[in-house]
Amino acid sequence: MASVRARLRKTIRSMFYISAVKKLLETIPVIRNVYAPAQRTHPIDRIYGIDTSGVVQVENIHPDQSLRSQISPYVGSQPSIVRRGLSALGDIRDYVFVDLGCGKGRVTTVASEFPFRAVVGVELSAALAATARANAATIAGQFPDRPKVTIAEANVVDFPVPEAKLVFFNYHAFGAELMAKIVAKCEAALASGAQPHMFFIYYNPVHAEVFDQSPAFVRFYVEQIAYDKSEIGFGPDLSDVVAIWQSVCGSAPTPHHGADRTIIRIHASAAGLAQ
Ligand SMILES: C[S@@+](CC[C@H](N)C(=O)[O-])C[C@H]1O[C@@H](n2cnc3c(N)ncnc32)[C@H](O)[C@@H]1O
Repeated sequence: MASVRARLRKTIRSMFYISAVKKLLETIPVIRNVYAPAQRTHPIDRIYGIDTSGVVQVENIHPDQSLRSQISPYVGSQPSIVRRGLSALGDIRDYVFVDLGCGKGRVTTVASEFPFRAVVGVELSAALAATARANAATIAGQFPDRPKVTIAEANVVDFPVPEAKLVFFNYHAFGAELMAKIVAKCEAALASGAQPHMFFIYYNPVHAEVFDQSPAFVRFYVEQIAYDKSEIGFGPDLSDVVAIWQSVCGSAPTPHHGADRTIIRIHASAAGLAQ
């Protein structure tokens, strides 16, 4: 009986995210409150006993007005989609994982489920970085054998590219200008010979063209991935796009079909994210 009720709840929740239904319900005061998905306690927080839910607006992330126009608010991505992206990489045991704009550390938590050499989060906001550190300590306490998670409080453009095989991750954390600076930094690191190989996972790839135009990267994977049923109602949609590039340097043929397909993006302005 309980499982029938749970299934019914999930089906009803899915119906709220059918585009036409959502459009209509968002016009009705009170009812539109159901669409504040990131404010609800995410299942991953209940599973691990961590705090990655909620939204932090850019005014509360950094005092510098010119930087604020280039950054997205804090909202966590969907762990099921991050797991699918990470699983697409193959053997990553020699790789260091770095989430550029890690917020409260939801993605560094998910990455710690995989056998990376190390897991790093870089975050501009001191308060968010402190929460990510506390979450990392909770996970390390429960799972001492998982890779070590380190959180750095820094602007990603000032963060030195580690000299190791790398998996960078970004959940549309910043606008085109910052993304172009990151790609230029990656290109310089690859050209220096210090980087044997690099993947870049771009979740919600609003500025995919920055990678497509770089001679240092080639497409590896592109998919529109449906949320796991347990996560429906905790993010803005029912599915998200994940695109992965790998560096030309050290590249191997991708095993994934359709990596060269046109990337359908959500518009940053519609989602209130950095342009
Ligand atoms: C959309 S949230 C993503 C959080 C996390 N990666 C996830 O997927 O759950 C973007 C985060 O990037 C951070 N951020 C934006 N610009 C940044 C920058 N230049 N340097 C470091 N962090 C930045 C924001 O403070 C915010 O926490």
